[in-house]
Amino acid sequence: MYQASKEQLEQFDKQHDYLASKLKLGKELLWLTKDECIAWGPTPDQVLDIVRDTMIAHGKGEYEMPAKIGIHPYEDVFFHAMPAYVPAQNAAGIKWIECFPRNPRQYGLPQTTGVQVMNDIATGVPVAIMDCTWITEMRTPAVTALSAAALKPGTEYFGMYGCGVQGKAHLRYIVRTLRHLKKIYVYDIYDEVAKRAIAEVQPEIDVEIVQAETSQEIAEKCETMSSATIILRDPLCVVKDEWISKGQTIVPCDMNTYFDLKAQYRADKYIVDSIEEHQLFADMGYFPEDKGLPHVYAQTGEILAGTKPGRESDDELIVCSNIGISVNDIAVGQAIMMRALEEGAGTILPL
Ligand SMILES: NC(=O)c1ccc[n+]([C@@H]2O[C@H](COP(=O)([O-])OP(=O)(O)OC[C@H]3O[C@@H](n4cnc5c(N)ncnc54)[C@H](O)[C@@H]3O)[C@@H](O)[C@H]2O)c1
Repeated sequence: MYQASKEQLEQFDKQHDYLASKLKLGKELLWLTKDECIAWGPTPDQVLDIVRDTMIAHGKGEYEMPAKIGIHPYEDVFFHAMPAYVPAQNAAGIKWIECFPRNPRQYGLPQTTGVQVMNDIATGVPVAIMDCTWITEMRTPAVTALSAAALKPGTEYFGMYGCGVQGKAHLRYIVRTLRHLKKIYVYDIYDEVAKRAIAEVQPEIDVEIVQAETSQEIAEKCETMSSATIILRDPLCVVKDEWISKGQTIVPCDMNTYFDLKAQYRADKYIVDSIEEHQLFADMGYFPEDKGLPHVYAQTGEILAGTKPGRESDDELIVCSNIGISVNDIAVGQAIMMRALEEGAGTILPL
């Protein structure tokens, strides 16, 4: 358990006074819709800064974040409870997120939905409830983009599998950290989804986005690849081990699903955002029972903090799996809440 320093406790009290000047704490809370989160939320560059600081704090052990607990009404869907305490941001709260992969096609709803509660760290009382889909949409590609830049900064060709909410957000973020990009290749199982993503994002970024003909094309052309498709207990292993070469960097946000598990086991370095979170999935049977989780070299935050070296040779095959950690949600949520309170935005609800 992380213990706050005397100085941090003073900060918590100072922040409490500020919150109490904006809301009748314990009697009221602030409700923020998705549009309000977007309007008052940090810019992508600010999200990158918040996420970088938070990942580094995580890498140094300055946080409290139990692994997700969840409910699973049927195969391959989940509700996850994701609490976190982030001392550096004076932030505490919990995200309650759902992932239902068939939502977009069957119900016209996003695959990922949820809300987040933010608390006053000095008294514990709830201060705000907000939509967390935008936060998730932003903080996830920020982690990929920071990891990719730390592990293969000279990347010229980046590949993205999955062109949904996360896929598009990844295109917007990756150009902010990989400064030598010449081309981005994208692939989605649905041709029209890939085309729509290119039409939507291309006007916003300078790097050319090209639709790959096959998933193999990306693996053969790109030094750094990411995937945001679907998380399954039985991996799809779409990207075959024999298509993957030495020197590549693979940064999936759908964990075990997309890249052949053989490549994940043979990687020179297997890095994860959180060992506990990955171990939890391994315990639930997401990795072969006889092998378990691949040997973890480091956590992503340790690489970003510089406490463990990232890439040490051009030849290393590196997999950096970021399944998503709530310290980032809570830190970004804190930034939104503080700005909204300052601006008088959102709706105050009685408790
Ligand atoms: N690691 C994290 O922090 C984090 C955060 C949010 C979402 N996710 C995960 O990312 C994934 C995508 O989330 P999203 O919100 O973008 O969902 P989405 O439904 O908007 O997009 C998923 C896309 O993947 C495509 N797809 C599915 N199977 C495919 C396949 N075999 N080959 C190629 N494309 C395929 C779909 O057609 C769709 O366009 C989910 O698995 C979700 O759980 C991870």
